[in-house]
Amino acid sequence: MKKIIIAIDGHSACGKSTLAKALGNALGYTYISTGDMYRAVTLYFIENQIAIDDNEAVAHALKHIHLQFKTDENGNHIHLNGRDVSGEIRKMHVAELVSPVATIPAVRREMVRQQQAMGQQKGVVMDGRDIGTVVFPNAELKIFLTAQADERARRRFEEQKAKGHADSLEAIKQNLLDRDRIDASRADSPLRQAEDAVLIDNTHLNHEQQLDIALDLVRERVREESGN
Ligand code: DC
Repeated sequence: MKKIIIAIDGHSACGKSTLAKALGNALGYTYISTGDMYRAVTLYFIENQIAIDDNEAVAHALKHIHLQFKTDENGNHIHLNGRDVSGEIRKMHVAELVSPVATIPAVRREMVRQQQAMGQQKGVVMDGRDIGTVVFPNAELKIFLTAQADERARRRFEEQKAKGHADSLEAIKQNLLDRDRIDASRADSPLRQAEDAVLIDNTHLNHEQQLDIALDLVRERVREESGN
């Protein structure tokens, strides 16, 4: 079966990486959560006290940040300079700073460069905010995912609770609304639905239902690409 690039963009905490991961497993594609990359950069900035408005310090720091995805039976883990930070980057101190960090053009340039390199062989499903608009404007399938904010906050809360540590529902909702606002209003590659993206609102869909919809879209695009 011909391999394509699948770009999934959308609002914060609406299940983009859940869908990307499920598609990756179903299709044997590599899945990349680009939000993890911005979060790992943010963690590096916090740990090394990099002021985000200091262009020189940011440029210097970017040269010392090495990101790698490693897959094991528990999924895809991001490593920051050799350290698995996939748990740490989901915490609130990172969530609160990641959107401001993701507005920095030098940071975006470097992340986009790495993401484009990862997609060279196709057979990739990537989720983020600018995948269909900037990283892979020619992706064969673009999905724009969203859900109502209350439902998104509730899901994130339940996810954290299951892991044994949960912020308050109100703090989670406020954080995701703040991130949506900053992500959609920044000057450099703001979050927006690409004109040729398919909109999916998963407020009332479960995982299987959204995966089925996405797999139908994949099959359709692969057929088109194969000229049938
Ligand atoms: O997908 P996520 O919620 O883990 O992403 C965290 C933040 O990173 C998000 O609020 C905005 C930023 N981001 C981005 O600007 N561009 C991307 N392609 C992915 C994430």
